[in-house]
Amino acid sequence: MWDLLLLDCRAATMDSQGTIHDAAIGIAGGRLTYVGLRTGLPHGDIATTVRRLEGAWVLPGFIDCHTHLVYAGDRSREHEMRAKGMSYEDIARAGGGIMSTVHATRAASEESLIESAAQRARQMAQEGVTTIEIKSGYGLDLENELKMLRVAERVGEIAHMRIARTFLGAHTIPPGYADNRKAYVDLICEKMIPAVAREKLADAVDAFCESIAFTPGEVDRIFAAARAHGLRVKLHADQLSDMGGGALAARHKALSADHLEHLNEEGVAAMARAGTVAVLLPCAFQHLRDTHKPPIEALRRAGVPIAISTDCNPGTSPVTSPLILKDVACEVFGLTPDEALAGMTRNAALALGLEAETGTLTVGKAADLAVWDVSDPLELHHAPRGSGLLNRYFRGRSDKHGDKP
Ligand code: NIG
Ligand code: FE
Repeated sequence: MWDLLLLDCRAATMDSQGTIHDAAIGIAGGRLTYVGLRTGLPHGDIATTVRRLEGAWVLPGFIDCHTHLVYAGDRSREHEMRAKGMSYEDIARAGGGIMSTVHATRAASEESLIESAAQRARQMAQEGVTTIEIKSGYGLDLENELKMLRVAERVGEIAHMRIARTFLGAHTIPPGYADNRKAYVDLICEKMIPAVAREKLADAVDAFCESIAFTPGEVDRIFAAARAHGLRVKLHADQLSDMGGGALAARHKALSADHLEHLNEEGVAAMARAGTVAVLLPCAFQHLRDTHKPPIEALRRAGVPIAISTDCNPGTSPVTSPLILKDVACEVFGLTPDEALAGMTRNAALALGLEAETGTLTVGKAADLAVWDVSDPLELHHAPRGSGLLNRYFRGRSDKHGDKP
């Protein structure tokens, strides 16, 4: 007995079943209860609703596993600064960068942040996204960090998707603490992380380990506090320079280490051993006109799972399109289309610790799926923005028909 049965479709399960032509997908209670050949359907089972998809492709809903989706303000003038040759560090030191978004986000009301972030989430949903990770990190004080995390939760309710929330109080040292960095790290470890854990406002803690942000020693303290409060960790690692970030993340059993342009060999090996996912952010790489690519071949050889994400943020990647992400990952980083797809589904789930819940079309997982009008998933690569998506199901409920689980 199913609530919903999808027939006449092809499925790219992204799990060990691979691709199924002439597939059937059964959904009950918002979860996948059958994924297989239509001819293998058990006899006699009845479905409340049957939908024939006329040969369309069904894929897992996309997962955008690294975003800074909640923010206020506008940093488009940074394009001009970059065109004049200023680096990310130059822009940050000149008062732009993360701190300019912090000022705007602190001044913004919760309602206005919800509205603008939900708009971005809807754009992602229109291209098949069912899960978004959202980081705080533009508040940098207790009140505004908690505000961002509350906003993130509301975005999921409005845009009809799952939100994984990550506390990123360690995004940069806020003004007032430049001469007393320790006091800010104390605030993170002793006040912010306990509050986030107590109020269950995030699943993970992230930090930006870089010369313009936090040192490996400071990250060690922050991650120890996170783990003492039962929170998983992830790291903005080795983006602008080799800080030993990959090995640092692995040492803390991080879910993921992200960016990784300057990841060293030891970091690759440590991540492979720890099962830490490499989250690549090719759109940020492109916006920063970076030329130093992550060691992708070494990651492949070591068997480190690779995920990709938009890194949606107002400064270095104002991108809300998973299809553009997929294209840039292939054309700029040289991932294969299959690697890119795995990076937006199965491995992105792993990067969030959500692999039991979503990321593949596997019986038992949530029925998070996207139905595409393409003759092959490889075509998604070239689908013009906003086209191609026929329907999206989140926990078994569709955008188009409102089928309830
Ligand atoms: O992931 N690298 C640090 N943080 C963000 C950028 C945030 C910003 O510039 O506002 C990133 O690229
Ligand atoms: Fe980021």
